[in-house]
Amino acid sequence: MSNKTFDEITTHLQTYGFVYQGSEIYGGLANSWDYGPLGTLFKNHLKDLWLKHFVRDIEYNVQIDPAIIMNPKVWEATGHVSNFHDPLVDCKYCHSRYRADDLIKQQFSDVDTDKMDVDDLNEFMKSHQVTCPNCGKSSFTDIRQFQMMFKTFLGVTEEKSSTVYLRPETAQGIFINFKNVMRTTRRKLPIGICDIGKSFRNEITPGNFTFRTREFEQMEIEFFFKPGEDEKWFEFYKENCKSFVEKLGLKDENIRFRDHEKEELAFYSKATTDIEYLFPTLGWGELMGIASRTNYDLSRHMEFSKQDLTYLDPETNERYVPHVVEPSFGLDRLMLALFCDSYENEILDDGKDSRVIMHLNKRLAPYTCAILPLSNKLNDDAKKVFKMLTEEFDCIFDTTGSIGKRYRREDAIGTPFCITFDFDSLNDNKVTIRDRDSMKQERVEIKELVNYIKANLD
Ligand code: GAP
Repeated sequence: MSNKTFDEITTHLQTYGFVYQGSEIYGGLANSWDYGPLGTLFKNHLKDLWLKHFVRDIEYNVQIDPAIIMNPKVWEATGHVSNFHDPLVDCKYCHSRYRADDLIKQQFSDVDTDKMDVDDLNEFMKSHQVTCPNCGKSSFTDIRQFQMMFKTFLGVTEEKSSTVYLRPETAQGIFINFKNVMRTTRRKLPIGICDIGKSFRNEITPGNFTFRTREFEQMEIEFFFKPGEDEKWFEFYKENCKSFVEKLGLKDENIRFRDHEKEELAFYSKATTDIEYLFPTLGWGELMGIASRTNYDLSRHMEFSKQDLTYLDPETNERYVPHVVEPSFGLDRLMLALFCDSYENEILDDGKDSRVIMHLNKRLAPYTCAILPLSNKLNDDAKKVFKMLTEEFDCIFDTTGSIGKRYRREDAIGTPFCITFDFDSLNDNKVTIRDRDSMKQERVEIKELVNYIKANLD
């Protein structure tokens, strides 16, 4: 692992405007974060790349955009109303609040809490010396199950019958639209329905910057197919997700696949694999999961909605409930991993100098090019170059400070190409392009700039 720390990186992200503390002028709101101009551009580029990889390039796939607030019966059908709980305990001495499974995992690293139910956790807490990280005492309340869905009310009356939930995952908006999509697109199976959007979970222990928050974005696919093809499509998406993280440029040594063991799987699930990332300081953390979910979700929605969600196979004339493979990415976690992976405090000139640089994937970097006139007298002419390039790329026009300082600032935010417009540019119609990673400079004709950048993006 490199010597960069998680704190150093998150400080950098806040200093440069990738991420801001949420509600900062009111003293903030715990574990809430806003993306600034750089973070927002980066996020848009990452979504675009995901859409290209998983929707445009896979002939079977389409994208939808379902509502965040759905009929509450959706969450009864999925089991979220009864089962989407975290096991909460309070220290009887200092009243600090924890997730019981987290406490056990931290203090007994060989214990696999994913295989334990509430009774097992309660029993473990009592029979082992689990201590409060805050006061060191070993006396906790019994576990209470804490509902993680955010509740609100539809309309003017705040009563039980008007209770609705903010969705805790985007996936269910896809399942409940399966029939609509099949009817209106007139497609056959297999079909992948994709969605990017916000999800909400009232996490008891949010933290580690944007790693675990109560409001976050997911990029999910439900891929529907004929029963029996489960393994084929599971492997297809495992490979596809692997090629996606490779395409993003995450370093091989910081990525691992973790197959869930049989005891970890829900009774209906055939297989689940997570992709994990080795975060500086924090260690391995889940970025996304690929789950083979059989026909569980559609069957539950059929039962609760009393609608027919079966599919009539035009080739075999068979009627069945399609099976599903679900690749589910956390957008914010993926962003955080990419920030951590690309951040470097680079030593230059045998230790005489250094620079902070983000070696971001060039297609994801907030700005593809920075246009830097060497003197304010050149601003008007340089702006013409800026205008030409903004037709194709996200660009920044910066006139403040020495050229060296401007280069350093662009390195720090990951801009792959710095384009300097100097007095010679007025005569030879050429500009100097500086490559972020190698710092090599090249003189390029202005009329060739767009082609040059496109050719050097990958
Ligand atoms: N539909 C399946 C599903 O939601 P999940 O493992 O609960 O599965 C998928 O969530 C991904 O969403 C996770 O791998 C993670 O990247 C992201 N995620 C989940 N909870 C999160 C949270 N509280 N904050 C940030 N990202 C979260």
